[in-house]
Amino acid sequence: MDLRTTYLGLKLRTPLVPSASPLSEDLDNLKRMEDAGASAIVFHSLFEEHIRAHGYQPHEGRPRSREPYPKALTYFPEPAEFEVTLEDYLAHIAHAKAALKIPIIGSINGSTFGSWITYAKQIEQAGADALELNIYSVPTDPNVTADEIEIGYLTILASVKAQLAIPVAVKLSPYFTNLSQFARRLTESGADGLVLFNRFYQPDIDLETREVFPNVILSTPTAMRLPLRWIAILRGRIRGSLAGTGGIHRATDALKMLMVGADVTMLCSALLARGIGHIATIEREMREWMEQHKYHSIEQFKGCMSQENCPDPAAFERAQYLRSVSTARVRSARTASLGGTKDASGALCLDVGTVTRRELRERAVELVVEDGRPAREAANSDWEQAKGEASSAPEMATGTEHTKAEL
Ligand SMILES: Cc1cc2nc3c(=O)[nH]c(=O)nc-3n(C[C@H](O)[C@H](O)[C@H](O)COP(=O)(O)O)c2cc1C
Repeated sequence: MDLRTTYLGLKLRTPLVPSASPLSEDLDNLKRMEDAGASAIVFHSLFEEHIRAHGYQPHEGRPRSREPYPKALTYFPEPAEFEVTLEDYLAHIAHAKAALKIPIIGSINGSTFGSWITYAKQIEQAGADALELNIYSVPTDPNVTADEIEIGYLTILASVKAQLAIPVAVKLSPYFTNLSQFARRLTESGADGLVLFNRFYQPDIDLETREVFPNVILSTPTAMRLPLRWIAILRGRIRGSLAGTGGIHRATDALKMLMVGADVTMLCSALLARGIGHIATIEREMREWMEQHKYHSIEQFKGCMSQENCPDPAAFERAQYLRSVSTARVRSARTASLGGTKDASGALCLDVGTVTRRELRERAVELVVEDGRPAREAANSDWEQAKGEASSAPEMATGTEHTKAEL
């Protein structure tokens, strides 16, 4: 069985690559990831703020007992308090390169055009096989145009590319007006690949103390829908590699991502939640699925469900939305006991939109975990809240009339 793939020009044994996460901060973890079958590893990011600061203490964060993932939060960088020097980062890459056989991909997180760009060169010299640019800021100035922001990112990319011989990938957010166009501009400006998508940690506030604090929440497989759709759309429209990141927890998730055209499938939350050994489980289950379906290599099905290759290209566009709402509602009406109601005409209405029963269950568990309770304590109230969220989602209203007619 041939699981080989090529990403950023690197020949990889499988498409399973741990994405940037705190796991890479520890050399033992890096070795364990390699032993579990990781074909390459993306390092945690060197943050622009860290480059300017000193006093890196990797395992000192601000664990809060009420946080859902205190362990993960321990690693979550809070720029003012959690700092790494460039020297530490470079030394760690060099140690990892000496200890591991698989490619190491460095990562820089920055938002401004500054001298830190030159550090990319030092990451290359430390031995990194590729670099991931995690270029992101939250634009808040109403005077800055979208084009100015995009040009800023392109300038950073071009400056880094001008200095490096190793391939450079850009890790993107989905928040661009025309993502397809910006993706193409990035690859035309030298990006060897795109990593879709980064997740940003949206702050929460504490009602009692009136503090703002980061809330690190691990993903569930539902998160995969966004990168799945965009990889499907971009495959064939742009040059370069595509990496899927976000919500890949199971072999089936990775297989789907490959089918829409990803070259690699990146793992983060799944490993933080289930442990590094989960890489081996996913690989084994991928092999089993391929064997059952008589595939000998990933190349045989990679991209077969991209927008340009799939039998129903419109399915990846909004035009499909009404159909998916009604399909889901018809299915729910037949099978689920979600608590449907009848309208004046006697038509059965289920206000769950496109959300399936499994997704509701996952969301309910997510709510429990967000609340700091063990997942097994999911109660009816969590289920009701998940249902409430689904039915109050504004876009659900679009399909209502259509759905009633269909039912
Ligand atoms: C605790 C934690 C730390 C992360 N650190 C980084 C980072 O340093 N750089 C980066 O580009 N992404 C970072 N990420 C994002 C992940 O690499 C990944 O892209 C994202 O979590 C989506 O994948 P997932 O659904 O498998 O978690 C981090 C994610 C988590 C949960």
